[in-house]
Amino acid sequence: MSKKENWIAPSILSADFAQLGKDVKDVIAAGADVVHFDVMDNHYVSNLTIGPLVCDSLKNFMDREGIKAPIDVHLMVKPVDRIIPDFINAGADYVTFHPEASEHIDGSLGLIKGMGCKAGLVFNPATSLDYLEHVMDKIDMILIMSVNPGFGGQSFIPQALEKLKAARKLIDASGRDIRLEIDGGVKVENIREVAEAGCDTFVSGSGIFGNVGANDANRYDSVIKQMREELAKA
Ligand code: DX5
Ligand code: ZN
Repeated sequence: MSKKENWIAPSILSADFAQLGKDVKDVIAAGADVVHFDVMDNHYVSNLTIGPLVCDSLKNFMDREGIKAPIDVHLMVKPVDRIIPDFINAGADYVTFHPEASEHIDGSLGLIKGMGCKAGLVFNPATSLDYLEHVMDKIDMILIMSVNPGFGGQSFIPQALEKLKAARKLIDASGRDIRLEIDGGVKVENIREVAEAGCDTFVSGSGIFGNVGANDANRYDSVIKQMREELAKA
C-alpha cells in the first residue's frame, strides 16, 4: 500500500479549552482533517490534560454541528487498559498508546480493535520500532514522536525523519492499510520534509493554534492553506 491522502491533525492541546468546540469547528472548517486529542495523566508524563468526559462532550458537539472529522486519541497514560473503553465509548475513532505504558501490548491492541476502533502504537524518540514486529496485523496507525511527550510547543527532533522513513518501509513491506503519523514541533516550515520522509498524518498544535490573531471564524484558514501548499510540493 503506498502513501495515503494527507491528513492534517490539529492537536487541541494548544486550543483554548474555554471554547474548545468553537476552536475545533473553526479549524475543521479551515480544512483540517482530524482532531488530535492528547491525554496526559501526571504519571506516564508529567502533565495533566483531558479525559473521556471532554471527549464525549466534544463528540456530541461535533455531531450536533455535523462535523465528521475523526477523533484521534493519543494516550499518554499508564496503564492503558482500564481507560481505553471509556474513550471508545466517548467517540474515539483512533486510539494510540505507547508500548512502554502497556504490560500486554497485543492485548491492549486487541481491546481497541475488539470494540471496533482503529488502533495504533506511539514511538518516543528513543523507542525502537521493533515493538511492531509481531503486531502489524492489529495496527491501523503508527505514530512517531518528534518530541518527548508531555508538552506542546517543543522543537522538532530531526532524527524523527529517519524513523519515519524506516516506518514507511515497514508499512509498504506489509502491504497493510496503515497510517503514518508524526507528532511534535510540526509547522508550515518543516511539514514538507516530514511528508517527504513518508508521513501522511501531521499533528500540529502550537503550529496551528498559536500565532492566530483575533477570534474570527476564519483565523485558521491561512495556516492550514500554507500547510497544504507545502504538502503539495512534497
Ligand atoms: C506532545 C503531544 C502533542 C503536542 C504537539 O506530548 O502529544 O500532540 O500537542 O504540540 P506541538 O505541535 O506544539 O509540538
Ligand atoms: Zn499527541
